[in-house]
Amino acid sequence: MYGKRKSYNTKGGSVRVCFEGGEGVISVITDEIINVFSPVSNRGHRSKAIEGEKAERVDFKVNDGAEYLEIKTRALRVRVYDGYKVDFYSASGELLCADYRGSRRGSRQISEKFLALLRAEGHELPRLGDINYKIQVVKRMEGDEAFYGLGDKTGFLNKRHYDYEMWNSDLPAAHTDAFKALYKSVPFFITLRKSCVYGIFFDNTYHSYFDMGKEKDDYYYFGADNGNLDYYFIGGEAMPDIVRNYTYLTGRAPLPQLFTLGYHQSRWGYENAGDVREVAAKYRALKIPIDTIHFDIDYMDGYKVFTWNEADFGEPGALIEELGKSGFKVVTIIDPGVKAEAGYEIYEEGLAGGYFAVAQTGEVYENAVWPGDAVFPDFGNPQTREWWADKQKFLIELGARGVWNDMNEPASFRGGLLDDVVFTDEDERSNHEAMHNVYGHLMSKASYEGWRKYDERRPFVITRACYSGSQKYAAAWTGDNQSLWAHLQMAIPQMCNMGLSGLAFIGTDVGGFGADVTPELLCRWVQVGCFSPLFRNHSSRGSIRQEPWLFGEETLAVNKKYIELRYRLLPYFYDLFWECEEKGLPPVRPLALHYERDEEVRDMNGEFLLGERVLVAPVVEQGADRKLVYLPRGEWYDYWTKEKKTGGCWFVTEAPIDVCPLYVRAGSVLPNFKPMQYVGEHEMDELILDVYGGNGRYVHFQDNGEDFAYRDGAYNKYEFVTLADGTLKIELLHRGYEKLYRKFIIRYRGREQEFAFKGDPLTIWL
Ligand code: GLC
Repeated sequence: MYGKRKSYNTKGGSVRVCFEGGEGVISVITDEIINVFSPVSNRGHRSKAIEGEKAERVDFKVNDGAEYLEIKTRALRVRVYDGYKVDFYSASGELLCADYRGSRRGSRQISEKFLALLRAEGHELPRLGDINYKIQVVKRMEGDEAFYGLGDKTGFLNKRHYDYEMWNSDLPAAHTDAFKALYKSVPFFITLRKSCVYGIFFDNTYHSYFDMGKEKDDYYYFGADNGNLDYYFIGGEAMPDIVRNYTYLTGRAPLPQLFTLGYHQSRWGYENAGDVREVAAKYRALKIPIDTIHFDIDYMDGYKVFTWNEADFGEPGALIEELGKSGFKVVTIIDPGVKAEAGYEIYEEGLAGGYFAVAQTGEVYENAVWPGDAVFPDFGNPQTREWWADKQKFLIELGARGVWNDMNEPASFRGGLLDDVVFTDEDERSNHEAMHNVYGHLMSKASYEGWRKYDERRPFVITRACYSGSQKYAAAWTGDNQSLWAHLQMAIPQMCNMGLSGLAFIGTDVGGFGADVTPELLCRWVQVGCFSPLFRNHSSRGSIRQEPWLFGEETLAVNKKYIELRYRLLPYFYDLFWECEEKGLPPVRPLALHYERDEEVRDMNGEFLLGERVLVAPVVEQGADRKLVYLPRGEWYDYWTKEKKTGGCWFVTEAPIDVCPLYVRAGSVLPNFKPMQYVGEHEMDELILDVYGGNGRYVHFQDNGEDFAYRDGAYNKYEFVTLADGTLKIELLHRGYEKLYRKFIIRYRGREQEFAFKGDPLTIWL
C-alpha cells in the first residue's frame, strides 16, 4: 500500500517519510529505542502505556541512499525501504531484524463441507478469506529466534511456533496451551537470537494477533484489527538492557510496602466475620507467619461495590481493626461492575456524573456481573477516574491496606460488551473495541491514584486485567488457575514471561483457585509460591478449602517451612524490588535473562532465577522425589546442604516432599531477617548475612517499608563485599533513614558470628 519512497523531512527526533501511498514516521526515542509509526486510523499515538516524554535529545544522522534511507544512532541503524519496509541493524552493521518482503501464506485449506461439520460440533473455525489484518507487520525469520514476553500467555517459556491474541478474557475453563489470550494484554516480546537480542513493543490496544512462526517458518508477524501502525523497536547489548529499555518506556513496578511481600491468605467463600476470625486465629495459634487476609466479594452488601455487608461482617471496619491487633492487614476486593439499582449511591452518582459507558442508543449500557444487572465505569474518562479514585476513601477509612481489582477485562455474564459501546479515550469519544484491553489498566490507575491521594503509604493495588505499563500501578495475579499439576508447571514460564513483560509484582493462586487441591500439590505449590513476588493462597467456592492445616501434619510442616523461609528472605525480596524500581528487572527471571548465550536455558520451563543470585528448581510433577537440575556456568551452592556445585551441566538431586531444590551463586551474600509472625511484630534491627564464598558485591536497601520518604533520601544503603580470601567488608553507602541495623549476624560455613554496628565500616575475617 505504501509504494515507492518519495521524500523525507526531519523534525526534532522524528523523520517523516513520504511514500506514494501514505506516510511513515520513524522517531528516535533514545539511541536504543526507535518508534515506527504510520497514522492509519488517527493521527497520534494516544499511548496508554507510555506516560510523560520519553524521547531524549539524541544525535542521529539521516542518509538518503538510492535503495534506502538510513537513520543512524549510536546503537542502531534503521533502514527504510520502499513499501515502508524497515530493517534494523546494530551500530556495527549486524542485521538484527528485517521486514519480510513477501506476503503471508496462510496454510489452512478447508472445504465448506468440513467447515460445516466443525461448526456443528462447536469448534473454533480457522480464519478464512483475507487472512491479513488491517494493521500488520511481518518480520523475516532468520531461523535462530527464541521469543519471550507477551504477558500472561499460557504454555511454555519460548513462544516460538505458537500464536497468541491480545484481548483481555475471563475464561473459567482450565487454562491450557491452546488458549490464545488470558486476562492481560502486553503486546511486547523479546527476540533472542544466537548473537543478538532485541524487543518489539506493538503499542496498539485493539484486538491484536501475534504469530511467532506458527503459520510459516520463514516469517513471524503481529497485527491488529484497527488503530495505528505503532511499534517500538528496542535494542540493547543483552536481554537485561531490553527489559530496562522497555520499562523505561512503559514504567517500572515501584517499591511496594514490605508487608505486601509477606504471605497472604484468601478464599472466595469466607462468608462472615466468624470464618475470617477462625482462619486468622488458626494461623497465629499454629505460628505460621502471615500478614494479609483478603476479603472477597462476600464482605460487600449484595456485591455492591463500596458497601459493607453488616449482617455477616458486623459493624463496618470493626473486624479489620480487630484483625489489625494481631498484625493482620486486610485487602478488599472491588470489581468494576456497579449494580444498576435505583437509590444505590454509587450508581446514582455515576449516572449523575455521566461516568458510565453508554450504548449507541445513548442509554447507559447494562450487562450483568456478580450483583446482577450492572453498569461499567468509563475509566478512559479522566473524570470517572477521579471519581473512582475518591471512592477508595471508603476502603481506606474502613482500615483496608490495599484493594484487589478483579473482573476488569471487563468480565460480563451476558456475553461480551459490543465493540461499539461508547467509552471515552481521555478527551475523545471512543468505543469498547479500542478501550477493552486498557480497561483494567485504567481502573488500576484510578485506584492507585486514589490510594496515593488518601493514604500516605505506597498504594497496594492488585489487578487481574492489565495492559503494558500496568506495573506502575498494580501487582497482578494470573487469575483463575486450577488445582492441577499442569497449572503449577505453567506457573513458572508464565511468571517468567510476565516479569520480562514489565509485570514484576506477580503471583499465582497458591494451591490453585478452581478444582480440588491434593496435599502433595499444595506442598509443591507453596514451594513455588515462596519465591513468587505475590505469595497468596486463594481458592474458589465449590472447591475444597486449602488452608495449610487441613491436610495433616506433613503438609502443615511443609507449608510452615516455606512460609517461614519467605519471611527470612524478605530483605532479599525487598532489595529485588528496589532494584526493579531502578532498573526494571523483575524478581522472577528466566535463566535466559542472565545466561542468554547458553543454549541449554532457552527453553527452560522447570527452573527460574530469583534475582541473579538464587536459582529455584521446584518439583512440579506428581509423585516425583527427585529433580533433574541444570545449573548455568559458574560455581553454585546447594542452599540446603551447602554443597558446592560446578555449573554448566545437568544432574539429578534428591527432592523429597519438603525439599525445593535451591542454589545460590558463589560470591553471594543473602540478607535475612530473624523469624517473625508478621511485618511489624518486632523491630527489624538485626540483619543476618548468609555468605556464600567467592568474590562478590551486594547492595542492600533499608527504609521504613511503608511510605515514599525513601524517594527523598530517607533510606540506608549498605554494601557487602566478599572476597575469595575470606573477608567480608560492610560499608554504609548512604545514610538517610534513622534506624540503622544494630547488629549483623554473619553465617558462613556453619559458623555464626555477631558484630555490633554503629555506621562505621567493618572488615570481617570469615
Ligand atoms: C474471580 C476472581 C477470583 C475471585 C472470584 C470472586 O473469579 O478471579 O479470584 O475469587 O472472582 O470474586
